[in-house]
Amino acid sequence: MAGKVVVLGSVNIDLLVSTPRLPCAGETVSGTSLTRQLGGKGANQAVGAARAGAHCILLGAVGKDEDGDSMLAALNSYGVDTGRIRATSSATGCAVVATSPQDNQIIHIAGANSDVDAILAADVDLGPEDVCLAQMETPIPATATLFQRARAARACTILNAAPASTAALDLLPLCDILIVNESELALLAGSDAGSMLDDQSLLSSRSLLGLQSGQTLFVTLGADGLAIIGQDAIQRIAGRSATVVDTTGAGDCFCGYLAAGLARSDPTDQAAIEANAAASIAVQSFGAAASIPNRATVLQSLG
Ligand code: ADP
Ligand code: NA
Repeated sequence: MAGKVVVLGSVNIDLLVSTPRLPCAGETVSGTSLTRQLGGKGANQAVGAARAGAHCILLGAVGKDEDGDSMLAALNSYGVDTGRIRATSSATGCAVVATSPQDNQIIHIAGANSDVDAILAADVDLGPEDVCLAQMETPIPATATLFQRARAARACTILNAAPASTAALDLLPLCDILIVNESELALLAGSDAGSMLDDQSLLSSRSLLGLQSGQTLFVTLGADGLAIIGQDAIQRIAGRSATVVDTTGAGDCFCGYLAAGLARSDPTDQAAIEANAAASIAVQSFGAAASIPNRATVLQSLG
């Protein structure tokens, strides 16, 4: 029987504002549209795992407010198990994303995401088939607690070190798999982005990060797919051609699908091939969670 995926992470309401041009300081401009949608890396990755067919439990927190209720309803509609999401007295996390044809600006309010704590992380049963997945938008002590418990239960731990933060370094000893994109790798390994994507540099980035032989580094490379960097060998999975509409949440789709594949006990490269295909489909439509395909669509695209 497949294991479950336990995602610990953020739940936000994303307020997407379109405007012909971003305002300068002190200025008001007339926007053209406002859309509310489910966001937060934790929520998006949980949707990815659920769409990939896993039983996915999301550990997180929302406010006791209308936004919290509607984000929980959205998560439920995607099949995410929301039974352990706590409702707290803080406001639901929120990101205001202003987009113009040239650029974007984001203001993020962590809100209830700051209330995710070790107690929440300690309250879930784990076994060796299970996969735990976390990002950097919720407090580190909660992730550390979940990963320590996962280690004790011989469950797999995956850290997606996004948004890029050196605080992730403290969690590295607890993770079986580290997933980063190019800029996150550069920040964590302390080098220039783009100057370290050849095989030799990727292999040496493992030691810069202090990764041990049992740990695997995944570097996602946008349109170029990804690289899986083991102790002595690199496997590259080529990007799949895509007509890009909106890359928001591509990395989240990848992480959720990978976790679901590993919870099915698929070989790592097989899980990565499906995750790469799923993410290449997600970039071809608008939205983050809303653009994540179901597994049947992904398998069909792989032929
Ligand atoms: P992030 O969204 O975290 O910055 P990436 O840009 O590396 O991460 O994208 C994550 C994954 O999404 C890639 O590994 C790839 O599978 C897929 N992807 C992203 N951009 C494209 C693209 N332009 N064409 C095809 N696949 C893409
Ligand atoms: Na998308």
